[in-house]
Amino acid sequence: MIIHLPIRPRRNRKSETIRELIRETRLSTSDLIYPVFVHEGTHNEPIDSLPGCNRWSIKGLVEEAKRSMDLGIKSMVLFPVIPDNKKNSDATESYNPDGLIPQTILTLKDQVPDMTIITDVALDPYNSDGHDGIVEFRIDGSMEILNDASVEVLCKQALCHADAGADIVAPSDMMDGRIAAIRATLDSEALDDVSIMAYSAKYASALYGPFRGALDSSPKAGDKKTYQMDPANSREAIREAQLDENEGADIVLVKPAGIYGDIISKIKANTMLPVAAYQVSGEYLMIKAAAQSGWLDEKSIVLESLTSIRRAGADMILTYFAPQAAQWLREK
Ligand code: PBG
Repeated sequence: MIIHLPIRPRRNRKSETIRELIRETRLSTSDLIYPVFVHEGTHNEPIDSLPGCNRWSIKGLVEEAKRSMDLGIKSMVLFPVIPDNKKNSDATESYNPDGLIPQTILTLKDQVPDMTIITDVALDPYNSDGHDGIVEFRIDGSMEILNDASVEVLCKQALCHADAGADIVAPSDMMDGRIAAIRATLDSEALDDVSIMAYSAKYASALYGPFRGALDSSPKAGDKKTYQMDPANSREAIREAQLDENEGADIVLVKPAGIYGDIISKIKANTMLPVAAYQVSGEYLMIKAAAQSGWLDEKSIVLESLTSIRRAGADMILTYFAPQAAQWLREK
């Protein structure tokens, strides 16, 4: 039977050429940012909780940066693994000018000068308490993450990274007022050219588990719910992004990415700033595990997940799949 049907959406899908013409979202290598872990050791150490990722030595990271650059990945976010004997309750190692991150920035800038360097600004890798801010313990056994005292240390940390040559600092701590304070600190030191990528909507998510394993940075007591956001909320995310925009952020970030696509869309609709999204360790691991057991096709699901994050509204994506995705995009 031939039905009279003038409107047939399938016409727009009839060939790959037409599908490409009507494609609304494109994923390119230039959208991807590569998060990497660096440690003080001289060897690269595979991370059990994140198959395919390493704790790089500085030397190993230089090689990885060159490989990434060759694939078209031109920006990296650095995360440090700090030995226990350098952690304390004031997180003083976080702004040591001779510390691991400043050293790594200097070496990368020397050896791979075109790599854009983003640094994570938060105290958890340096804090013996494992929290992103300074913790006050009370006699009655309760504890509080101090906001303003933390912001003071975060400013020192951001300045230390910027002094060493970071292109972008990325505060991921979720303290109130830290964007304004960091902007003012950088500007007062003539570092007005250093950008701020604000983790504006960072949720208290179970998906950070593998990352905390990689850095040995889990909170020793309590959880992060007094500063990271409740996964049940979205209006609060818009409010946080607006505050960060007003305080001088250059880019706002949503984290996690995959199951927070609605948040990415809402923030995108409510800001004129570029929006970043972080496909976090748990998202990476879920895909890896399913691929390794043969249940999903890794290449297809990785490219689909990244495209979905772009479709939700992210201009750029932080992902541990960055070099692999770049390789696949090149082969396409
Ligand atoms: C901490 C920080 C975390 C991540 C990035 N920065 C963990 C946390 O908040 O506990 C998570 C990234 C990931 O899971 O891949 N400031």
